[in-house]
Amino acid sequence: MRFPDDVPVLTDGVVRLRAPRVDDVAATVEMNSDAETRRWNAVQVPYRVEDARQALTERIPAGWRNGELWTWVIETDGRYAGAVVLSGGESGVGSIGFTTHPAARGRGVATRGARLAVAYAFDVLGWNRVTWGAFVGNWGSRRVAWRVGFRHLVTAYGGGIGRGERLDEWIASIGRDDERGPAHPWWEVPVVETDRFRLRAYRDSDVERTIEFSNDQLSLHWLSMIPQPFGHAEAERYLASRYEGLASGDRVSWVIADPVSDEMLGDVSIAGLLREGGGELGYCAHPAARGLGLVTAAVGRVIEQAFLPVDQGGLGRRRLELVAARGNLASIKVALSNGFTQTGVRRAADRRRDGSYEDLLTFDLLSEER
Ligand SMILES: CC(C)(COP(=O)(O)OP(=O)(O)OC[C@H]1O[C@@H](n2cnc3c(N)ncnc32)[C@H](O)[C@@H]1OP(=O)(O)O)[C@@H](O)C(=O)NCCC(=O)NCCS
Repeated sequence: MRFPDDVPVLTDGVVRLRAPRVDDVAATVEMNSDAETRRWNAVQVPYRVEDARQALTERIPAGWRNGELWTWVIETDGRYAGAVVLSGGESGVGSIGFTTHPAARGRGVATRGARLAVAYAFDVLGWNRVTWGAFVGNWGSRRVAWRVGFRHLVTAYGGGIGRGERLDEWIASIGRDDERGPAHPWWEVPVVETDRFRLRAYRDSDVERTIEFSNDQLSLHWLSMIPQPFGHAEAERYLASRYEGLASGDRVSWVIADPVSDEMLGDVSIAGLLREGGGELGYCAHPAARGLGLVTAAVGRVIEQAFLPVDQGGLGRRRLELVAARGNLASIKVALSNGFTQTGVRRAADRRRDGSYEDLLTFDLLSEER
C-alpha cells in the first residue's frame, strides 16, 4: 500500500479518519505530553518534537506499507482531535488503541473513531476479533470500549507495563458477528430524595464511614466476607468495587445518606443484574443508624426503583431475592416488612468467623406483589 495516497479516509459524518501528516507534529506533541495521556499510555517522557516527527515520517508510513500498523488521525471540524491505531491481525486477531487530544475530550471523538476503525478491521482487513486493553482505572477508555461493543472483560493482573512498572490491565474484545454496541447495561444510580434520607451513588468521601461500618462487631458477625483488618486500602477497594458493579452491569449500590449532611447511614445494593429480570438484594446500616426503621424504608424505595421499567429510569426487574442468616432477626424483619416471602432454607450455608455454620433463609418478592 502506498502512503499516504492509499490510506482510506473513513467518516461517520462527524469525525473523519485520515492519514497522519508531518504538519500533525505540534498536535501530536501536545497530546503525548498531556498528563492524562502519560498516565494511561506508555508514551516516552519527555515526548519531543523529534519523537513525533519520527513517528509521522517513519513508523506510521512503514506500518501502512507493511500491513502491520494502521494509524489514522481523527479530525473534527477539520482540526486534529486524536489518533486511533490498529495493530497485529495475525490469525485474524488484532488490537485497537486510541487517544484524544486534551482539547477534544468528552465529545465522543474516541468512541466515533474507534467504531470506524473496528468496522475497517472486520470489513476491510478481514479480522475476526479486535481486542482492547487499558490500565485498570482508565474509566474513560473503558467507557469508550463498552460503547463500541467490546465485551468479555477480564483483568490481567500485572499484565501491562506503564509508568515504569507492571500494572494491572483490563482486556476486552469484540468479534466480527457481535453487535457493535453495548453488550450489557452500564447502570447509573438513580437518586431518590425523601424527608428522612437520600439514596445516592457512592463517592470517595464515604471512605471513613465505610471503615467504621466494616469494623463494627455486629457487621463483622453477620458479614463474614468483610476482610479484617479493614483500613483505608480495603475501603478504597470496596468503593472501586461499587463502581465496577455499575460498569459491568452486575450491580447497583445506593448509599443511604442523611438528607442534610449527606453523611452515609447505610447501603442497599442489588446484585446479579446480568440475569434477565432477576436481582439479589443486600442491605446494611451504619452502627449509628440502626433501629430507626431507616433501612426498611430505604429498601422499600429501592424495590420501587428495581421494578420500574428501564425506560422510566428503573432496573426493569421482575423478581428479587435475598438471603438472611436464621439468627439475623433485624435483617429478616426488613425483608418481611417489605413484603418478601420466605421460600426455603439453605442449611448450614453461612459461615461465622468462629468457623461454625448457620442456616440461611431464602426470600423472594415478585413485581406483581407490590
Ligand atoms: C480515554 C480517552 C481516549 C477518551 O477520549 P474521549 O474522546 O474523551 O472519549 P469519548 O468522548 O468518545 O467517550 C468518553 C466517555 O467516557 C466517559 N468518561 C470519561 N472519563 C471518565 C471517568 N473518569 N469515569 C467514567 N466515565 C468517564 C465520558 O463521560 C464519555 O462517556 P459517554 O460516552 O457516556 O459520553 C481520552 O480521555 C484520552 O485520550 N485519555 C488519555 C489516553 C488514553 O487513556 N488512551 C486510551 C488508552 S487505552
